[in-house]
Amino acid sequence: MDLKKYLKEKCQLVDDSLDKFLPKEDELPFSIHKAMRYSIFAGGKRVRPILMLAACEAAGGNSEGAMTAACAMEMIHTYSLIHDDLPAMDNDDFRRGKPTNHKVFGEAVAILAGDALLTEAFILLSSLEACPSIDPLMRLKVVSEISRCAGSRGMIGGQAVDMESEGKPEIDFATVQYIHTHKTGALIKASVRAGALLGGADKKSEAALVKYGEAVGLAFQIADDILDIEGTTEEIGKDAGSDQERGKATYPAAIGIAESRRRAAELVDVALDALSCFGEKADPLREIAKYIVKRKS
Ligand code: IPE
Ligand code: IPE
Ligand code: MG
Ligand code: MG
Ligand code: MG
Repeated sequence: MDLKKYLKEKCQLVDDSLDKFLPKEDELPFSIHKAMRYSIFAGGKRVRPILMLAACEAAGGNSEGAMTAACAMEMIHTYSLIHDDLPAMDNDDFRRGKPTNHKVFGEAVAILAGDALLTEAFILLSSLEACPSIDPLMRLKVVSEISRCAGSRGMIGGQAVDMESEGKPEIDFATVQYIHTHKTGALIKASVRAGALLGGADKKSEAALVKYGEAVGLAFQIADDILDIEGTTEEIGKDAGSDQERGKATYPAAIGIAESRRRAAELVDVALDALSCFGEKADPLREIAKYIVKRKS
């Protein structure tokens, strides 16, 4: 299959839906809506929503029914990036090839734009008009999965330990593992699981897809750590070398770059193996797993 074409098409569909769902810039208060749209449309890869759509298709569903949840996930992810870049956190100046949200709009608006994107995600997930086809119990399951993975036992938990571990001379591998599976793995796993649920996966398929999601989620953050070292700011669209500068607990810092690369490749194998019971409907997921460790941005 042509992954490039698949990603481009899905990306366009996600962007069109995000544009439809987000408050317009000319809606009051202008500053917040402008700041929300600025980061959403700054040029993200849309990996999480695309994974959700692809998991839905792999489970035998129609990905149109997963579009609202996919957009909600991208809103949550984008909020996490706006807050991650703040001076109190990673203090970064570039994101998605542009100045970070707080550099353009100031810290107060950036914090509020992040808060609003998180809230907007749940407005969308619970909206009967936005996705009438999803039955109430399924909606509840999806909200439960996504909120759990975004909270303090998920992404926020990882971000908290990431901050606590910054600048420590000793990097404990178990801690890095916790940080990565939570700060990044959690939302990626939730994307795949939500897609599986919305696609009508049975228990066995759901478990296989969750295994896939966990493996690619961790691989994604290992690749992110490697790109921070090997990529340029221009290539990755965000401040290269920022991890070392801040003494972040990363995979390369804990086990070296060669071993990090080896583990990421191993995780891709785990992910592909988890899909062994699926036919060609899971090909996009297979190609995305390989892309996640090969990508240059
Ligand atoms: C960056 O995520 C932050 C991490 C969790 C590693 P992405 O690499 O998916 O960033 P965008 O959405 O494409 O900008
Ligand atoms: C961020 O991890 C994860 C979240 C935003 C939840 P990083 O701090 O490594 O992400 P980048 O490198 O700034 O995108
Ligand atoms: Mg960070
Ligand atoms: Mg960061
Ligand atoms: Mg990073």
